Amino acid sequence: MNLNVRVWRGAASGEFQSFEVPRYASQTVLDVVTHIQRALDPTLAYRYACRVGMCGSCAMTVNGVARWTCRTHVDKVASDGAVEIAPLRNLPVIRDLVTDMSPFFDKWAKARGRFEGGTSRSDEFAEVAPQSPQRQQVDAAIECIGCGVCYASCDVVAWNPDYLGPAALNRAWTLANDVRDVSNAERLRAIAGDAGCHACHTHVSCSERCPKQISPTAGISGLKRAVAKAALRGEL
Ligand code: SF4
Ligand code: SF4
Ligand code: FES
Repeated sequence: MNLNVRVWRGAASGEFQSFEVPRYASQTVLDVVTHIQRALDPTLAYRYACRVGMCGSCAMTVNGVARWTCRTHVDKVASDGAVEIAPLRNLPVIRDLVTDMSPFFDKWAKARGRFEGGTSRSDEFAEVAPQSPQRQQVDAAIECIGCGVCYASCDVVAWNPDYLGPAALNRAWTLANDVRDVSNAERLRAIAGDAGCHACHTHVSCSERCPKQISPTAGISGLKRAVAKAALRGEL
């Protein structure tokens, strides 16, 4: 039995091209794309690395929904023996299924999404109790693989290209709860503006779609509370 596959070809302008791909058990959407590139059209551009849900590089739009394709089975998403595969939304398309992730990661930097410690190698290791409230918040949000599925699913990013977006804000939230980090006031200032956490409309698409079961929506709500408390303390 064959699967009818429509694949985006081109960049911002282009068109869907149709292929027929043999089906087999436990076939993933990434397997389908790989078959097309290896057996039918070697010029097809796409991106992946690990094939086991760790690197975050294989995300695409599958039948209108952003997904990690290496862990998405065709049986789950095929509609009437057909599947449509397009690049991620809300990012510039370089070619075919490959998007430019620069705006996505630039926003991590804008949200101060890097750890800044205040100790040196001669200091003792910091002790963070596993059951502490801050550590629990970090645990819930830390497993982000940077796939961009949440970003592509967010309507506010589509309306406002400056919006930092769910992944960068989720990252800021993990660091806001990292008791070893010393730059939290600057981080809260970075995410408090018009394009920061207050722009989120709590649509929850990000949390519904995240393949790692992270809830950026919850983290963004936490950031809103943290910004309000910091403002009341006169820290912003
Ligand atoms: S909850 Fe906020 S960040 Fe997530 S998709 Fe909705 S608007 Fe975007
Ligand atoms: S929060 Fe989830 S959907 Fe968003 S980039 Fe991280 S792993 Fe991907
Ligand atoms: S190829 Fe690495 S997450 Fe899919």
